[in-house]
Amino acid sequence: MKMDVLLGLQWGDEGKGKVVDYLAPKYNVVARFQGGPNAGHTLEFDGIKHVLHQIPSGIFRENLKNIIGNGVVLDPVVLKREIEGLGKFNMSVNQNLFISKKATIIIPTHKLLDAAYEKSRGENKIGSTLKGIGPTYQDKIGRVALRVGDIMSPDFDKKYNELVEKHKSVLGFYEYDVKDLPELEKAFFDAVEFFRELNLIDSEYEVNEELANGQRVLAEGAQGSLLDIDFGSYPFVTSSTTMTAGACTGLGVAPSVIGEVFGIFKAYCTRVGSGPFPTELFDEDGERMRKEGNEFGSTTGRPRRCGWIDLPALKYSIMINGVTQLFMMKADVLNIFENIKVCTHYELPDGSTIDKLSFEISEIDAKPVYQTLKGWNCSLAEVNKYEEMPQELKDYVTFLEKELNVSIKMVSVGPDRTQTIMK
Ligand code: GDP
Ligand code: IMO
Ligand code: MG
Repeated sequence: MKMDVLLGLQWGDEGKGKVVDYLAPKYNVVARFQGGPNAGHTLEFDGIKHVLHQIPSGIFRENLKNIIGNGVVLDPVVLKREIEGLGKFNMSVNQNLFISKKATIIIPTHKLLDAAYEKSRGENKIGSTLKGIGPTYQDKIGRVALRVGDIMSPDFDKKYNELVEKHKSVLGFYEYDVKDLPELEKAFFDAVEFFRELNLIDSEYEVNEELANGQRVLAEGAQGSLLDIDFGSYPFVTSSTTMTAGACTGLGVAPSVIGEVFGIFKAYCTRVGSGPFPTELFDEDGERMRKEGNEFGSTTGRPRRCGWIDLPALKYSIMINGVTQLFMMKADVLNIFENIKVCTHYELPDGSTIDKLSFEISEIDAKPVYQTLKGWNCSLAEVNKYEEMPQELKDYVTFLEKELNVSIKMVSVGPDRTQTIMK
C-alpha cells in the first residue's frame, strides 16, 4: 500500500484537523510526522469542539491506530494534559495511541530558551508559539537532545541534567530569569512518569509493516508549507520540514511509498505570528474575515492576520509538495462578500509582474495584483451536495482549478464534520 499525506498549503490553520477526522474512517493508521504542541488542530462533531496539539486527529475514530512519529517534538506535560482531557469523553488511548521512541522531547528549559530568543529579537521576533519548538529542533540537529526512548534509561536524569546545565548557561547569557524552572520541572517529571506507561514503539517498523500488510496509512501534517524551514518565509518559519518530504523523514517511509498528497487551503489566507503576507488586509474587509471566520489561534488565542487568496504562494506549495488533490476550506466565510479578490501575480517596484516566490520576494515591496470575481453572497447552510452550491462558488472553484492545475475534490462549508462537500 501507499501512504497518503495531508498537509496545509498556506501558513497553518487551514483546517487539517477537520479533514483528517473526516477522512479517518477510510484509514487504519493516522500518523503525525513533524511539529509539536505549536499545532492546534480543531475537530467538531456532535456539538463538541476538540483541539488537539500533539495527538493525531484520527483519535476519535474507532479501530484506528494513531502514531506520533520520530519527526515530532513532544512535550510530555502537554501530552499528559491532552490524554487526561480525552478521559472526559470516556476515551482511553491505551489501545490506539503509539509514540515513536525516536521522537524528541521538549524539556522545560526549551520553552525558556524560546522566550529568551524571542525577547532578544525585539521587533524582529518570529511570533513563536513559545512551546519550545525551535530550541528543541536545534538540540536535535545539534545531537544533544533527549528522545522518548531515553526516558526508559536509568541514565535519564543524568542526561536531563547535562542538557539543562547547557541551557542554563545560554539563558544566563541572555540574562533570562529561571525562577519558574523548579515548578516547571516538577510538572515535567510528573508527566515523564505518566509517559512511561504509554505505548512507546519503533514506529518506522510499525508504519512500514502496516503498509506491507495492506493497511491504509494517512500522514497528518502540522503547520503549513509556507512555514517550512527551507521553503517558508525564512526566518519567519517553524523549525521543521512541513512538506511531503517531511512525512518520509518524520515516519521512516521511502519517497516511493507516497500515494495521494492532499493539499488543504482556505478560500482566503490567514497567518499568525510575524513575517511577509502580501495579500494581508488592514481594512474593514480583513476585520470582517477575521470575525466571520473566527480567526483566532487554536493554540495561543492570538488574532490571525487575514487576507485574500494568494495564487503564486499556492502554486509554489503545490509544486514543492506534489499535491494530487486540493481541498478548499472555509468557503462559508466568504459568504459575506459581494466580490472576491484573487491575487494572481505580484507587482515589483519597477512595474513588472511575477508569479513566483523568489528568494528576494520577502525583501521587495511586492504588491498583489488582483482579479475580482463575483461572490455568491448567500448562506451555504442548506448546501449538502456539490450540485447545490451557488453558481458563483462553482465558478470560484473552477477558476482556482484552472489556475492551479489540480482538481479541488472537497469544499468545506463549516467547522462540523458534516459540513463537508465532496466533488
Ligand atoms: P488546523 O491547524 O489546520 O487543523 O486548523 P485549526 O483548527 O487551527 O483552524 C481551523 C479553524 O477553522 C477551526 O476553528 C475549525 O473548526 C474551523 N473550520 C474548519 N473548516 C471550516 C469551514 O469550512 N468553515 C468554517 N467556518 N470553519 C471551519
Ligand atoms: P497548525 O498545525 C499557524 C507559527 C507561529 C510563528 C511561527 C513559528 O495548527 O496549523 P513556532 O512556535 O513553531 O516556533 O512558531 O510559526 N505557527 C503556526 N501558525 N498554525 C500552526 O500550526 C503553527 N505552528 C507554528 O505563529 O509565526
Ligand atoms: Mg491550527
